[in-house]
Amino acid sequence: MSDARHVHVIGTGTIGEPLIGLLADFREPLGIQTVSFHKRTPLSTERAKVKSLMDRGALLCTDPEAISKFEDQGFKVSWDAEEAINRASVVIDCTPSGVGHENKKRYYDRFTHNTLGFIAQGSEFGFGKMYARGINDDALDHENDKFVHVVSCNTHNISVLVKTLAITNENPDNLLEAKFVMMRRSSDTSQDGDFIPAPKVGKHDDPRFGTHHARDAWHLFQTLDYDLPLYSSAIKLNTQFMHCLWFSMKLKEKISLPTVIQRLRENRRIATTEKTSANQIYSFGRDHGHYGRILSQTVVPLKSLSIVGENEVVGFAYTPQDGNPLLSSVAIACWYLDPNDIGTRLDCLRPFLFHEI
Ligand SMILES: NC(=O)c1ccc[n+]([C@@H]2O[C@H](COP(=O)([O-])OP(=O)(O)OC[C@H]3O[C@@H](n4cnc5c(N)ncnc54)[C@H](OP(=O)(O)O)[C@@H]3O)[C@@H](O)[C@H]2O)c1
Repeated sequence: MSDARHVHVIGTGTIGEPLIGLLADFREPLGIQTVSFHKRTPLSTERAKVKSLMDRGALLCTDPEAISKFEDQGFKVSWDAEEAINRASVVIDCTPSGVGHENKKRYYDRFTHNTLGFIAQGSEFGFGKMYARGINDDALDHENDKFVHVVSCNTHNISVLVKTLAITNENPDNLLEAKFVMMRRSSDTSQDGDFIPAPKVGKHDDPRFGTHHARDAWHLFQTLDYDLPLYSSAIKLNTQFMHCLWFSMKLKEKISLPTVIQRLRENRRIATTEKTSANQIYSFGRDHGHYGRILSQTVVPLKSLSIVGENEVVGFAYTPQDGNPLLSSVAIACWYLDPNDIGTRLDCLRPFLFHEI
């Protein structure tokens, strides 16, 4: 670690690109001196992206064999892949499924002595301690947690709803049963592939949890020693806008609709809305978010909420798909740098954590 307070991001895709920009824009209030990023492939179609990120203050790094190709495109390469990891205080891996694990074996395990921590994204189950901002901060251990896995956007959504509506006074026994139907957008607005012409249901390949969404949320709460009764199903929809989920939570306590709304409104990481459509909510993010991103962990349309009997809460919630892992990724990077000052560091992002949409 030659550079103090240096955050290095690997991957410039759907999650890496906005994360690099956000870290570069808020470098000073976040207490970061240097932001660098690793771009693997020098593509003419992505030259504008690299230029824009560098214009915002981030430094380009790449593999040794790609350096001259980026230089031919007119870019200054600051360090090669290994030197960048060696210099960084915190490394955030934003590569697709499986690559984070490969990078861990190939690079990260060799640099644990001089790097504060390594962070991976949603698909890298088993990379390190699971984390979502506001859910399990108490489970973090600065001495021992060198590897952290920021959970996926939908796991953030499930977890914040469960924690806010069901786990009152830190008592997980209040939740008798929680079921979720994850209605997933087939691809992001930045992606050309994977679009589907019609809704497509998913398999229940986990006998206990249904799909990996409930399983991941269960593991996240396990870091707090909670053993929660969660179950999820999934269906992919032919939309590019936002993931949406339906939920049902049966509680031990009796609950009323005003209490549900009050609990949602008291959590500053949750946005509530009178809107009901993804178009309207997504469009609000485009106009008022950070480069279009809503950093809240979930957006709950109040009109969708209902109480069944005396103790079951049902409703819908939209997932700000890259906003919530972006916030948790920045939070955990700041925690590695300043474990006791994370709340103050994140103040600069509060304008994008909406309470009402
Ligand atoms: N998509 C979302 O909305 C979303 C939301 C939350 C979490 N996540 C999670 O974020 C992670 C990344 O997903 P994504 O959708 O952002 O991926 P993506 O758009 O496919 O981007 C992948 C990036 O990784 C780079 N890359 C691939 N292999 C690499 C390697 N061996 N070395 C260095 N760079 C490499 C690619 O670089 P080149 O293009 O330069 O080759 C590309 O910039 C996954 O764990 C995913 O689950 C995604």
